[in-house]
Order: sequence, then structure tokens, then C-alpha cells
Amino acid sequence: MIPFYDPQRTYEDNYALGPFGAFRASSPFVRAEQPRSRFLGQPVTRPFGIPAGPLLNAAFCAAAFGHGFDVNVYKTVRTRAHRAYPFPNTLAVHVDGALTMERAARPVTADSDFRHVESITNSFGVPSRDPDEWQPDMAKAVQSAGSGQVLVGSFQGTRSDGHSADRMAAYVADHVRAATLVAETGAKVLELNLSCPNEGASNLLCFDTPTVVKIVEAIRNAIGDMPLVLKLAYFAEDPPLAKLVAATSSLVDGYAAVNTIPATLVGADGGQALPGKGREVGGVCGAAIAWAGLEMTERLATLRDRGNRDFAIVGIGGVRTEHDYATLRHAGADAVMSATGAMFDPLLGVRIHGVAEASRPA
Ligand SMILES: Cc1cc2nc3c(=O)[nH]c(=O)nc-3n(C[C@H](O)[C@H](O)[C@H](O)COP(=O)(O)O)c2cc1C
Repeated sequence: MIPFYDPQRTYEDNYALGPFGAFRASSPFVRAEQPRSRFLGQPVTRPFGIPAGPLLNAAFCAAAFGHGFDVNVYKTVRTRAHRAYPFPNTLAVHVDGALTMERAARPVTADSDFRHVESITNSFGVPSRDPDEWQPDMAKAVQSAGSGQVLVGSFQGTRSDGHSADRMAAYVADHVRAATLVAETGAKVLELNLSCPNEGASNLLCFDTPTVVKIVEAIRNAIGDMPLVLKLAYFAEDPPLAKLVAATSSLVDGYAAVNTIPATLVGADGGQALPGKGREVGGVCGAAIAWAGLEMTERLATLRDRGNRDFAIVGIGGVRTEHDYATLRHAGADAVMSATGAMFDPLLGVRIHGVAEASRPA
């Protein structure tokens, strides 16, 4: 099937001309039911959709809602314009089986052969329009949600130069500004991306609990009781995840996991697959990381149950089938999302509407 985000075109061309394939055509989707589930207080027909990434703007979001994806995330925005990394931004990744952490320590092959693709890398650098441009566009995306559908606005902070104390204050303030700008669009749920792999996996914000607490407290003061979700990377060890959840679960409404797993990407000749300095490593997503999405969902559900806490879990990672959806719901996910799977199979949302809902009510 033709992907709705075309990896063979630049990010800018996708932004201007997309979506493509089935998302351009009229939708075969007919809503048969009234919303029966709730996701963070919002009525949803099926708690399934597309996470931050492939939905670049309102045109992509409207197409996703029209094709039966009911909980969709507008791609991560910043408080100022930021360019995408040079083309290509997406390559097919060829891993035999699961990209375990052990396997990810060795190079994996990546190229532009998208036939039978199951896993990809995405390397965009979190591009953003200026808020003057993305705010009205995100507001349009919010409006395109129908009955039983919800748009989530994803954002992240941008580091600035200066002395360390000032730098931290500015970094926190930038997060607050981003959250406020997203809230102004009318988005019903906010998602803070703490798992941006572009500054090196060891610096991921989600692994720095004290800084996350500072940022989230400041955001909470600014947004009042609006639902806020934290987007997480894969945590190799349990104690840091437990520490993060213990420190933040009273401040936020949910956790979304998982983001991509970083790996060194090489072409068939063994050379660097993505052009440019700092792009030796790219985030891998799709079927090869399904294990990580399931494991993080299970671990978050255990922390929720054992700690008698009340937060939503958004299960993400390698979801391609109705069975994958049901598995994550059964593991405790209140909502499930698919980025790579949905990109290459834009009718997945329609099929998920056929899945009987038997698991934990959202
Ligand atoms: C094209 C593309 C762009 C992405 N951009 C973002 C982003 O801007 N912010 C973010 O939090 N995650 C981003 N992601 C990560 C996804 O939200 C998701 O966590 C990851 O792809 C795993 O899901 P999957 O296996 O279904 O692809 C992106 C993923 C893809 C495929």
C-alpha cells in the first residue's frame, strides 16, 4: 500500500503535498457506534490512533480522523521554527526479528528499499514551524475531530545557550511556553515529548527525573487541570522508571510509551546510512520494537497497580494488526497507537473498529 507519509519525498514536500495514498482518497470508514470509551475524560469510539510523528499538520490529522483513527497526535512542535535534518529522514530498516537492546548495540542495515517494510528509522530532528503558523493549523486539526475522536498536541522544549542556572530557567520557561501555546489551540490533551533521541540517547530528558519534575511542575501551574501525558523512551532498568513515575504521577495524567530504540545504521556497503554528522545513530520503530512497547505497557501497568495510582497508559510500538491492538489493551493500555504500521497500512484504523472491546475500560 502507498504510505500516507512518503519516505521517498522530503519532509517539506510531505508537509506541503501530503498526505498520500489511501489518506487522499475518500474514506471507506462508516462510524457504526456511539463512543463508549473515555480517554482522559474525552469520549472516544475506539481508543486507537496515530502517535506523534507521521501526522505533520492539519491535513494529515483530518485524513487520519476520517479513516477511523480516533485518538491522534499532531507531530511535536516547538516555541520557534526549527529545520528538519536533510533528506532522507526515513529509511527501511532490515532486522531479523526483534531489535532487542543487545541487538541494537550492533549496527543494523538501513536503505530505501521499502518493499515489505516492517521497521523503519526516523531521523527528523523534531522540525517545527513558527507558532504563528502551527497554532492556527493545530486549531484546525482539533476542529477536524468528529464525535468520539480527540486530538492530542505534542510539544517539547528547546535548549538555549548561556550559564547553567540561566539555561535551566530558560529551558523550563520554554516548556511552559510551548505547553501554553498548544493549550491555546483548543487541543484537549497535551503530550510532552521527553524522549527525543536527537541529542544522544544518554541525555534523554526522561532519564533525568529532577529536571522532569521541575518542568512538569511549572507546566502544571500554567495549564491548570488540562490532561498532560509524558512520552517516554524505553527504560532498560526498572528502578529509574519507578522513580520517574513516583515523582510525576501526581502531576501528570498519563504516560505514552514507547518512542524509538536507537541503533547505528549502516548501508549495504557498511558506511553511514543517514547523511551528516551526528546521524550515525537513528531511532528504529515498527515491528522490531513491538516487544519494547508491550514491555513498557506491562511495567507501567504494574507500577500503576502496585502503587494504587490512577494514570492512563498509551501503548505504542510495532502495532500492525488487530491482535497487536488487543494485546496492548489487555496489558493495561487505555489507548493504543501505531506510527509505522499505520503509515504503511492506512486502513488499520478501520479494521480496529471491528475489534470487540473486552479489556480494562479506559
Ligand atoms: C515518521 C515518524 C516521525 C516521528 N516523530 C515523532 C515526534 O515528532 N515526536 C515523538 O514523540 N515521536 C515521534 N515518532 C515516534 C512515534 O511516536 C512512536 O513512538 C514510534 O514510532 C514507535 O511506534 P511505531 O513502532 O508504531 O512506529 C515518530 C515516528 C515516525 C515513524
